Amino acid sequence: MSIPSLSHNDELLALQNVLASQSLISLFVEDANRTEDYSCEASGLYLDYSKNRVNSRAMALLFNAAREKNLEQKIQALLGGEAINYTEKRPALHTALRGASNTPADKKALVDDVHVKMAEFVDSIHSCRWRGSTGKTITDIVNIGIGGSDLGPLMVTEALKPYQQKNIRCHFVSNVDAADLLSILANTNPESTLFVVASKTFTTLETLTNATTARDWLTRALGADVDVSKHFVATTSNVENAVKFGIDARNVFPMWDWVGGRYSLWSSIGLPIALGLGMENFKALLAGAAEMDNHFSEQPLEKNMPVILALLGVWYTNYWEADTHAIIPYAHDLRLFPKYLQQLDMESNGKSAAHKGQVKQATGPIIWGEAGTNGQHSFHQLLHQGTRLVPVDFIAPLKAHHEHNDHQTHLFANCLSQSYALMVGKTLEQAKQEFIDIGYSDEESEQLAHHKVMEGNRPTNTILMDQLTPKNLGALIALYEHKVFVQSVIWDINPFDQWGVELGKKISTLISGVINNEIDGSTFDASTQSLIKRYQNSLKL
Ligand code: F6P
Repeated sequence: MSIPSLSHNDELLALQNVLASQSLISLFVEDANRTEDYSCEASGLYLDYSKNRVNSRAMALLFNAAREKNLEQKIQALLGGEAINYTEKRPALHTALRGASNTPADKKALVDDVHVKMAEFVDSIHSCRWRGSTGKTITDIVNIGIGGSDLGPLMVTEALKPYQQKNIRCHFVSNVDAADLLSILANTNPESTLFVVASKTFTTLETLTNATTARDWLTRALGADVDVSKHFVATTSNVENAVKFGIDARNVFPMWDWVGGRYSLWSSIGLPIALGLGMENFKALLAGAAEMDNHFSEQPLEKNMPVILALLGVWYTNYWEADTHAIIPYAHDLRLFPKYLQQLDMESNGKSAAHKGQVKQATGPIIWGEAGTNGQHSFHQLLHQGTRLVPVDFIAPLKAHHEHNDHQTHLFANCLSQSYALMVGKTLEQAKQEFIDIGYSDEESEQLAHHKVMEGNRPTNTILMDQLTPKNLGALIALYEHKVFVQSVIWDINPFDQWGVELGKKISTLISGVINNEIDGSTFDASTQSLIKRYQNSLKL
């Protein structure tokens, strides 16, 4: 089980064999134009994919594979609003939220209305017209949500810290572990705090539990007759449940079932972004994404950045048996980007069910990573000398938002040093010489040299942008969204459902019932029953 069914599989496998014995550096020697030929620009981003174990024939066959899977038609179906999420019988129109050029008119009107409502609300908070129940201005926004209702707004707010509005602080609570919420509440004043309850379904246990505790905290602090509507708003597609929770219908910012949770930061779920960074910056984020959408829709596959990234990923996952893919941004502000991509990619493509039957090849890789240079001092050892092939995407803004150019130069130099070292490695001869140079004997150097050998030829992409601006970040996120979509097309899976997370949710409700002695737990296995007992016993202490 490793390769998708494609008509050129034999040749792709043969090419893999050839390229496996060819050094990356030799590919540069053979082709003086390799950097130009294996690079691409779109919406403020520059992708250099020349340090990959591909040649022009391999790329041609991969583009061919995409055509064989009708990728061009599927891109138009996605952007045009067809019910591409076929298991849930609905479109996946996150591109409509940012006004991609082929957005259906009915969706555009809905989105425009919500943007107007968001803009008015943001203005009322920033201009201090909206006040808490005791007349204090709002200084702290606490977003309560999880998964897509948390990770996107959180990552963007962190990434765009230099654009943060003065006098407003944004906090994010997601975990049902009360330690998360309590750590935020400990440092906020109920009179000047606004909670945004963010849940597409408004049924998610973690979010409702946290929102209820937050409301109790508010009423305990400000009295049972506090006007809760001044402190709670909701972003959801389930207006009814939000109102039942006690949120004024006028303070509900709608979204729709055609927006997937992990694709929802562009919708009203992005309200904390707009509150924290200003509506203009939120709009710039959308504009950058829309530019990437239009690039994705209009460019031929050979010049299409999301398509190129996706096909390289398929190449390593299926033909080189790479199980993981590392995302390493060389920007502290982007440190949550790998975590954000974990949900985007793994909840989308972590699937074994094909359109019909089961898949016959590996699908989505494990996504992981951390900001550089920190990762260099932890897991890069494995990237350089481990036994596993880990393709890496390095992401780096050229200009910082601060004045410390010495830091920025070190940061950028480190980024380039990693992709270069991963490519060239270190030979046995070089390693031996290094031992001799520090005074080891010939014999010792001979014996120890292999410990320093670095195989090299480890594939990397480098994505550059001028600066980490709202527009460039929007483009970067959309780039990865579309990459994930392209891979789902090659693998013939639906990236827009997530049935795999349902079972655990249902069982946790049952186990809570067993713990509270409301349900008979004898149908659980002995291990689970014994663990439940231990927990019950701890409650009696
Ligand atoms: O973890 C599953 C999931 O359904 C995600 O897809 C979603 O982003 C998250 O839960 C939160 O869901 P909701 O926004 O409905 O609370």
